Amino acid sequence: MTMFKGKTAIVTGSARGIGQAIAMDLARNGADLVICDVKAEWLSETEALLRELGGKVTCKELDVTNAEACQQVFNQVAEENGRIDVLINNAGITRDGLLMRMSDEDWDAVLTVNLKGTFNCTKAVSRIMMKQRSGSIVNIASVVGIMGNAGQANYAASKGGVIAFTKSVAKELASRNIRANAIAPGFISSKMTDALSDEVRQKMLEAIPLNAFGTPQDVADAVTFLAGDKSSYITGQVLSVNGGMIMQ
Ligand code: NAI
Repeated sequence: MTMFKGKTAIVTGSARGIGQAIAMDLARNGADLVICDVKAEWLSETEALLRELGGKVTCKELDVTNAEACQQVFNQVAEENGRIDVLINNAGITRDGLLMRMSDEDWDAVLTVNLKGTFNCTKAVSRIMMKQRSGSIVNIASVVGIMGNAGQANYAASKGGVIAFTKSVAKELASRNIRANAIAPGFISSKMTDALSDEVRQKMLEAIPLNAFGTPQDVADAVTFLAGDKSSYITGQVLSVNGGMIMQ
């Protein structure tokens, strides 16, 4: 597949899970990949998988909470690859707990990685994409950012923020031919969700009309669509990938 031939895509938090699946799918569709993660030592797994596919791969250590580092890394990539066509803001964390017991630290950590990190990376790439007069940004939000969830006030607020941020950026950058969209995955099997108890998992399954958890590949398929030219008339939208868990 050559949908992304000659194009450069950056995926944050791509050492594992959904980010890894997104990087693989974009590479399968011909993109040159820049994978980055705060855990640089974990990137070797994704790197090896991408190298098997044969395309160009660049690995960068990047903590998305560090604005200066984001700009530095993205400038380096633009210099090395000549351009940045796609940014996927995927890096994210959870620190679950009921509001009454939620520490300031847990609130700040989640808002800082999920929302401020998305802001940092988007701001850094926007300078480059504006000069190019093209680009596509896809932010990974969550169903929880739309409907809320007990025990996840910090996470829900961060993902709801990502959705509102995406719409604002889409309005600001549309005239420069830069699109911004969000994906709201439902319950996706991954290391983050493997930690849940069987009882919680069974309860969640009952709430999903398609009666199955999603896979990282399900999210990656939606990302590839929104990142590429097949969605060239779509911006400022939230695409739900949730097995029908909520319908809007
Ligand atoms: P994961 O925990 O398996 O992977 C997240 C990756 O982000 C890790 O490699 C981690 O090292 C990296 N990361 C964390 N903090 C970072 C930072 N400050 N800078 C750079 N990288 C950092 O999580 P998973 O499940 O693959 O989630 C990926 C995204 O999808 C997240 O934004 C998550 O909120 C979102 N999501 C996941 C769902 C699920 O069911 N797994 C559902 C809805 C959304």
